This record gives sequence, structure tokens and C-alpha cells, in this order.
Amino acid sequence: NILILDFGGQYNQLIARRVRECQVYCEVVPYHISIEEVKKKQPTGIVLTGGPASVYEEKAPKCDPEIFNLSVPVLGICYGGQLMAMNFGGEVARANKREYGKTSLALENDSLLFADIGKELVCWMSHTDSIKEAPAGFRVTASTKDCPVAAMEDADRKCYALQFHPEVEHTEFGTDILRNFLYEACGCEGNWTTGNFIEETIEEIRRQVGDKKVLCALSGGVDSSVAAVLVHRAIGDQLTCVFVDHGLLRKDEPEQVEKIFKEQFKMNFIRVNGHQRFLEGLKGVTDPEIKRKFIGESFIRLFEEEANKLGEMDFLVQGTLYPDIIESGTDTASVIKSHHNVGGLPEDMTFQLIEPFKYLFKDEVRAVGSALGLPEDIVWRQPFPGPGLAVRVLGEITEEKLEIVREADAIMREEIKNAGLDRQIWQYFAVLPNVQTVGVMGDERTYAHTVALRAITSSDAMTADWARIPHDVLEKISNRIVNEVDHVNRIVYDITSKPPATVEWE
Ligand code: XMP
Repeated sequence: NILILDFGGQYNQLIARRVRECQVYCEVVPYHISIEEVKKKQPTGIVLTGGPASVYEEKAPKCDPEIFNLSVPVLGICYGGQLMAMNFGGEVARANKREYGKTSLALENDSLLFADIGKELVCWMSHTDSIKEAPAGFRVTASTKDCPVAAMEDADRKCYALQFHPEVEHTEFGTDILRNFLYEACGCEGNWTTGNFIEETIEEIRRQVGDKKVLCALSGGVDSSVAAVLVHRAIGDQLTCVFVDHGLLRKDEPEQVEKIFKEQFKMNFIRVNGHQRFLEGLKGVTDPEIKRKFIGESFIRLFEEEANKLGEMDFLVQGTLYPDIIESGTDTASVIKSHHNVGGLPEDMTFQLIEPFKYLFKDEVRAVGSALGLPEDIVWRQPFPGPGLAVRVLGEITEEKLEIVREADAIMREEIKNAGLDRQIWQYFAVLPNVQTVGVMGDERTYAHTVALRAITSSDAMTADWARIPHDVLEKISNRIVNEVDHVNRIVYDITSKPPATVEWE
């Protein structure tokens, strides 16, 4: 078990991810965790992350210095390394200028961290301050043109520091450096695997739940689907899944979800049909925020009505992921998310939460899903917004417009898949901008809808670029949509990145 003390750096999530890639279990905790807590967790190693502060600032975040006296190996990265240098009496230089980007690194000595890596590598720097002088007892193990102490270590104290970021992709051998710390310094064995995770989690859920009843709000998305299957594997019929179908899902989606969970996994599965209620409520609504709000609230009300019919439930399953927790701040995360995830459950519903993935990343959840036998379509499903097609039909929503966007979207998805691009493109879908234009079909004038195609590449949807789909694939999609979908005579392709646009149009 590796403990990662979070000082607020932008790459901290990546550190956890890399540690997992080395098949070592880790937890991210706030930097001010008490020394008693640390001891309780019995870590085999500690990583101090980067952060935006300067160690000389009055309010600079500091961990309990006792952490350095536990005889547990410590790796300080960037700010964490500077903190280590300060703690042992070294000197940290304040710089006015940021050093940022790719830098060539000379590895000066044999070092535990750089074993088998060679004499030089390209690393990613992102810092203002840096270690100017290593503390007594430390050996400088790497340097760059502008940074005399790019790495240092003291094997006796089991303390290691890096000025650069081994966790980012642009640092060559970054994962090897981390692996050396984990395996060679901490003695980790690298036996944290999907199979172990599933077994251990099933045991834990059984212990937690006993003979009580569990509810799951299933959206058909990757996270809640895999969570439902895992919990079902643990406690069988004590679990009931409620799937609210708001009529704003993609083509064949509700049927597919029902088939998988009811027939393949034989779960207690309730599909709530909310088509009428949602369409009625959305009549005349054109403002995107009002749409979203209405859908969010109605969703919860329907879910609540269904839950009440089932009688008392003790636990609620949520597919909360690790990044959700980290993004909301490690301190208060689970509280924030328990509301957020199901769109804000009513205060008077009291559940205990089961969040089996709260320490996993998306790709790890996908691996668990595959191992549990979920079909590829679910495991590799692209992100889909909670308000569904309502935010892809601009302006007022009608059944006819939903039908157009649903059919166009299905064609686009099929062709992207046929072209083998479905795993490369983060998200791709059709939008109905609610614009009619003049066209000509078979010598006849037409006045019909325009469909916009949107496809983006991204790693987290926070920023995104429009996908460079080959022209022949776009051509095929365009031809098929105008030929196969009624009321459409024009196709456009959205070539804006995020920012300034967003992924969805509303
Ligand atoms: P935007 O449009 O904000 O989208 O650039 C970023 C990512 O979030 C998805 N999205 C949502 N997901 N509930 C969700 O669960 C929502 O209300 C929602 N709105 C947007 C969007 O599809 C993209 O992946």
C-alpha cells in the first residue's frame, strides 16, 4: 500500500495512475493527514506530490515532518522534493521564472531510481522553485542545464527526490523510475490485479451488506453497469436495479440495457418508463439550463417513487470513480459526490453508500467489466450526458426531432465503428441544431433539417479537439444520413475545439 500525500499539483492523479500501472495499490490522501493516521495505514512507501505553492510561503502546505522518520521510503516529486530538501536542511532556490516543458536530464551517478535507465533522458519540468543545494547525507543523482539538483537520494534515510515529473507521458522512462521506487526501495511486489480486486471487493461487499437490501440506480453507462454486476456477483437477489428510461436515450439503448441485465445477468431489474412525463414536461422549453434542471429533478423523483414502492432499502450502489473523488478534493469528496452522482438525491432518503470503484480509474473499471463478462458495447461505451438527447436537440424537443437525431446518431456510430475509429475518438454524435435549409432532391425543392456531426478527441473532456475523421468516412456518414433519415437534407461537421466551444451544443 502506497500513500500519496496530495499537495495540490495538477498531475497528482497521474501519479496514482502510474503506481497502479505498476500493479501496486495506492491511496491519495490530503497532505495534512495526521501522523497517527499514516501509521494506521501502514504504508510500504510514501509519495509527496507536486503543488503550486512555494516552500517559503508563510502558508505553504507542509506535512507532518515525522513522516520522514518512519523508516518508510519517501519519494518527493517537485514541491514534495523541495519540502524534503528543506526538512533536512538543504536549500531551495526561489526563481522568478518558471522552467516548463521538455528538458534533457543527465543522470550523474548510479542510483536506485535510475537503475537500468542509462545516462540521459528527456524529462518534463514544470516548476518555479528548485532545490539549489542537497542536504547533507544526500547524493545528487541527476541534473539539467538550469537545475543542479534534478534528483537526489539518501539510501540510509530511504529518502528520494525528483524535481521533474516522472508521472507525465513526456518523461522518458517515467514509469520505470516510479517502478524502481516501488519495487526496489519499498519492496512492493506488484500483485494488485483486476482478479484480486474483484475477489477482495466481493468479500468486502458481503461483509458490509450482510442480509440487507441494496438498490442501484442504473444508467447503462460504464461505471454504474460494472458496479451493478460486481455487487450482484457478491449478493445476488439482495440487489435491485432501477433503470429510469426518460425517452432521451440513443437508438435501441433501453432495450439493450434491459436485455443485458435482465436476461444475461438475471438481475432484479426495474425499467421505469418516463417517456410521457419527460416529453410533457419539456413541451415548449427551449432554454438549455431549464431543460437540464427539469430532467435532473424529474429523474430523481421517478427514481424515488420506484424506490419507495420497493420498501426499505439499506444501501445504494454508486459507480463513483477515483477521479471524481480527487477532483472534488480528497477531504470532503465522498460527501460531495454521493449527491452529485445521482443528480442530488432527496435529503430524506437515507442510504449507506456502496462505491466499489472509488479508488479506481476508468480504464481499470473497464478491465473489471470485461473480467465480469459485460459486453464490449457497455464496457467501451462513450460518455453520454445525463440529460441525453435533450441537449442534442436544440430548441424545443419533439418526438419527431428526437427520432431524427436518434437515427442520424446511430448511422454515425455505425460508420465510425466500421472505420475502426471507435476507440480512438473520445466521443462522437449527431446534433439537431433546429435549422432548416433549402435543398434539392430528385428535381424537387426541399426545406428540411440540418444535422451537425460532432466528434472530439480528448483524455478527460475538460479540453478537447475536433477529431480529424477521414473525408471518405465523413462522406459515407453524410450520404447515409440524407438518404436514410427523413426530413434531413444537409450535414455539417463541427470543427471547434473546447475551449472555446464545449463538447455538447447545449
Ligand atoms: P461539455 O459539453 O461540458 O461536456 O464540454 C463535457 C463532457 O461531459 C458530458 N456531459 C455530461 N455528462 N451529465 C453528464 O453525466 C451532464 O449533464 C453532462 N453534460 C455534458 C459531455 O457528453 C462530455 O463528455
